[in-house]
Amino acid sequence: MCGICCVVTLCSQHAIHDFFNKDILCRLRRRGPDSSQQLIKTVSDLSYECLFSGHVLHLRGLVTPQPLEDANNNIFLWNGEIFNGVHVGDLENDTEVVFHHLALCSSEADILSLFSSLRGPWSFIYYQASRHSLWFGRDYFGRRSLLWQFSNEVDSAFCLTSVSVYSESGNQWQEVPASGIFKIDLKACATTKSLSLTLFPWKYSCTEKTAEEIFLNVLDQVSKDLPNHIHLVMNESKLCLRAPVIPLNKMISEALGECPGTNTSNIIHAISVETLQGFLAEEPRKKLVCQFIDVLNEAVKRRVLSLFRDEGQKTREVPSMSNRKAHVAVLFSGGIDSMVIAALADKHVPLEEPIDLLNVAFMIKEQAKQKGTAKKHTSQEVKLDLLCPQESCQDLDAKTGAHLSCFDVPDRITGRAGLKELEAINPSRTWNFVEINVTLEELKKMRQQCINHLIYPLDTVLDDSIGCALWFASRGEGFISNQGELKPYKSPAKVVLTGIGADEQLAGYSRHRVCFKKYGLEGLNKELEVDLDRISSRNLGRDDRIIGDHGKEARFPFLDEDVVSFLNSLPISEKADLTLPRGIGEKLILRLAAKEFGLTASTILPKRAVQFGSRIAKLESNSEKASDTCSRLKLFSVDEL
Ligand SMILES: *[C@@H]1O[C@H](CO)[C@@H](O)[C@H](O)[C@H]1NC(C)=O
Ligand SMILES: *[C@@H]1O[C@H](CO)[C@@H](O)[C@H](O)[C@H]1NC(C)=O
Ligand SMILES: *[C@@H]1O[C@H](CO)[C@@H](O)[C@H](O)[C@H]1NC(C)=O
Ligand SMILES: *[C@@H]1O[C@H](CO)[C@@H](O)[C@H](O)[C@H]1NC(C)=O
Repeated sequence: MCGICCVVTLCSQHAIHDFFNKDILCRLRRRGPDSSQQLIKTVSDLSYECLFSGHVLHLRGLVTPQPLEDANNNIFLWNGEIFNGVHVGDLENDTEVVFHHLALCSSEADILSLFSSLRGPWSFIYYQASRHSLWFGRDYFGRRSLLWQFSNEVDSAFCLTSVSVYSESGNQWQEVPASGIFKIDLKACATTKSLSLTLFPWKYSCTEKTAEEIFLNVLDQVSKDLPNHIHLVMNESKLCLRAPVIPLNKMISEALGECPGTNTSNIIHAISVETLQGFLAEEPRKKLVCQFIDVLNEAVKRRVLSLFRDEGQKTREVPSMSNRKAHVAVLFSGGIDSMVIAALADKHVPLEEPIDLLNVAFMIKEQAKQKGTAKKHTSQEVKLDLLCPQESCQDLDAKTGAHLSCFDVPDRITGRAGLKELEAINPSRTWNFVEINVTLEELKKMRQQCINHLIYPLDTVLDDSIGCALWFASRGEGFISNQGELKPYKSPAKVVLTGIGADEQLAGYSRHRVCFKKYGLEGLNKELEVDLDRISSRNLGRDDRIIGDHGKEARFPFLDEDVVSFLNSLPISEKADLTLPRGIGEKLILRLAAKEFGLTASTILPKRAVQFGSRIAKLESNSEKASDTCSRLKLFSVDEL
């Protein structure tokens, strides 16, 4: 989406350019290719100076260059998307709308209530001139990236930016925690020559009894990662933001709770699509599934319709299908999450418009293949792979050599099968199945040039694998099949839908099974709650930086506030049943939904994480743990080039 950045210096000695250099500018521009502007605000009597830099990716209304400044000298940078909560007309730009509302706020409580009401992803920076205050923050789930860095004590200065560059020397950047929104009183800070932040945290309700305790917890969490000289406080009247979703229902019905995993009468030996049919025969269950479909359908609808479509296209005479431009793409593995999203998008994207299905595969190196077969697979992959019947092709491939293409990784195979299902659901739609084949050489090159900067400040092996896979997938450059012939294709879609959030809410990860076996439903509930709490710091900031780098916007239907509230309202037993085998028990409600609206084989595919499905995890080192710091993300490491 957009790239936003603000540098604040509190004494004039400190040059803005220590933070804001051409590398950062270049990264920001990639996120917002449609308009770039800088604005410097110097308040000399108070000796503070701010640079605002705004880079816009145009999606709705007319292009609105940023930063925006109004007659009262308020300044606004917005990297977000309003899907609900505040009205944004079809031809309006949400940046203007939010800015306008902000300027009308007369108290802190007003500002908090405005941000509490927004539905959709956002990060923002707002300079409130009359109070010399700088406000900034990220939405409840942290769906948009924002980083910060503070200089050392002597010359107070700091910077906020959507994306940065990795460097071995210099201060560390960190992700701004999505724990609430922050305010800095620049006048007070300039006077005392020290930095103090006020945090307004998210809470389910501002009248909660446990408020005090929650406040202290959040305060601790956030301060522990800040440099010592930065003070973090709460407003003394305990002002807070209202969370946009309801709390997780952790109720466990007694019959289900007592003996996890031991009800042998429940075990299904051969799962099939008919198994799902059995569940749907239960009337209360079916009703919930239909409600889920409705709410998810709305979420997808908002995300595929809130974008600018070239109306000119419509009036031209009978444009041939193949000339139509796709506006929406789906990160597509053929697994249940991406299948459901693609099938729902199909209901709302104008029929004459193609939908791009982005499917990434990393070449299985000859050497890696031999190594892989020689020592069999690592235990985790065996688990992930053996349960998928298609995997047998892979083994066949290893034995017979060139029989299958070296890009025929698991996600490619399920992707093709998924495409067939979608074509069956809607044969008149043009489905562009974009085969994105990545070689080791290209992976290394692009990681050095840019992906490592986007992943930063995250740094594990898992961040590297997922980050690289996402970068190539969302770039959308590959091949599509045209009457049996492959031709080069680059997806023009600015909106990229992803299924992230489904596994976190519906117990899709293998570790959820482990947790359930050990600690039962209570433990599983806790794990799921933690998963959603930390999704901002684990995934979303990183994913936004990665996808935004292509001048595209990631949209997350499973993290729509209404979807999350709906799923949070259900007891776990309605969402997943981990006593059932893989491929059916996890994400049960989603599988039932998919079955209900006509998907077939894809409804019972087990989860395969993108790093395994795309085979990127196999490409380089097999011996490392996902949580290790990734040496390949470091600059100039010798073995890289
Ligand atoms: C943005 O939207 C506002 C309405 O909210 C409108 O008044 C303004 O002209 C728009 N700006 C541009 C540049 O389109
Ligand atoms: C705390 O909030 C109250 C009510 O909005 C406000 O009057 C007061 O100035 C705030 N205090 C600080 C330290 O910002
Ligand atoms: C075990 O499964 C059977 C059949 O589905 C069911 O009737 C029974 O209530 C279950 N028992 C427990 C303890 O969950
Ligand atoms: C990409 O990989 C697929 C196998 O999944 C293969 O059929 C296709 O030919 C490859 N495309 C190119 C351009 O190499």
